[in-house]
Amino acid sequence: MDINIIKAQIEAEIQGLDTLVKLEEFRVKYLGRKGILAQLTSTIPGLPIAERGTFGQQVNSLKSYLLSLIEEKERSFGAGPAQAIAGAVDPGMPGLAQSVGRLHPITQIMDEILGVFSRMGFSVVEGPEIETEYNNFTGLNIPLEHPSRDAFDTFYLKPLAATNKLLLRSHTSPGQIRVMKARKPPLAVVVPGRVYRPDAVDASHLFMFHQIEGFMVDENIRFSDLKGVLEVFAKSVFGQDIKMRFRPHFFPFTEPSAEVDISCIICKGKGCSVCGRKGWLEILGSGMIHPKVFAHVGYDPKKYTGFAFGLGIERIAMLKYGINDIRIFFENDVRFLEQF
Ligand code: PHE
Repeated sequence: MDINIIKAQIEAEIQGLDTLVKLEEFRVKYLGRKGILAQLTSTIPGLPIAERGTFGQQVNSLKSYLLSLIEEKERSFGAGPAQAIAGAVDPGMPGLAQSVGRLHPITQIMDEILGVFSRMGFSVVEGPEIETEYNNFTGLNIPLEHPSRDAFDTFYLKPLAATNKLLLRSHTSPGQIRVMKARKPPLAVVVPGRVYRPDAVDASHLFMFHQIEGFMVDENIRFSDLKGVLEVFAKSVFGQDIKMRFRPHFFPFTEPSAEVDISCIICKGKGCSVCGRKGWLEILGSGMIHPKVFAHVGYDPKKYTGFAFGLGIERIAMLKYGINDIRIFFENDVRFLEQF
């Protein structure tokens, strides 16, 4: 076989190739295991000894020439070597995995917590994010001029009527008013959902976050019932060895009121940077429902007592997973989200 004839043939053939698939067929034809160059090489042992060296060199240089032509052609298609076999099916390649979505971590924690309360007999009721001023404040014994309203006061909507001001709810507590007005005791209810606050955004504050409100009303509901229910909740979410403490606090809609802390899950109460050396982490607000709230919903405060609590989901998720910036929940960065 004449090397020069083959070379001319190569040059003519490659000219007419217009797809990567054809180029790949061409490559196999010449450079494949049983290709023309392999055939040339296999004739070497049959040549007279004096010719073998020169012929071998000619085959080698033809091979490099051929490779450079192929590469140039590939580049003219705007493709790199990896794409040269595009279109050719390789059944040995691993399949392309479909990425599957999942629930947002906040939804997951929410479901977990609602599950704990459902198993204790609480029913789940949702309320609207757009609330009346009455349900968000007045019905909860937060009078118009009360200073505790400042932290909650914002996001009013254009009023439809002056008597019925609407706003984005600043807590899930209006759920108490709605449910108690619609039902009679005994009742045990949890109200999950989004709430809105006029907070400047930083690592621990957002203008929107999630809460779960819980409350139970019947004859003879006592503070010890609140403690028992919250203990089951805290131990299921944070582990059986967690400790709790109730710190006196003020809320207009509960009396007495308490904030609840759990022993720091990082240092187990010894004091570290997460708990600010206190050994305790605040997780929720709670108390016995104020008689004035009962009066607003038409319950007899002499007959019924009840407890209520409100917890922030983001805060619980941050504590549980050691997340130090609340904003990351809503940046929708898949590298964060896919860890849950
Ligand atoms: N609504 C309160 C808040 O958002 C929490 C709370 C709920 C406190 C129920 C006591 C009882 O801060």
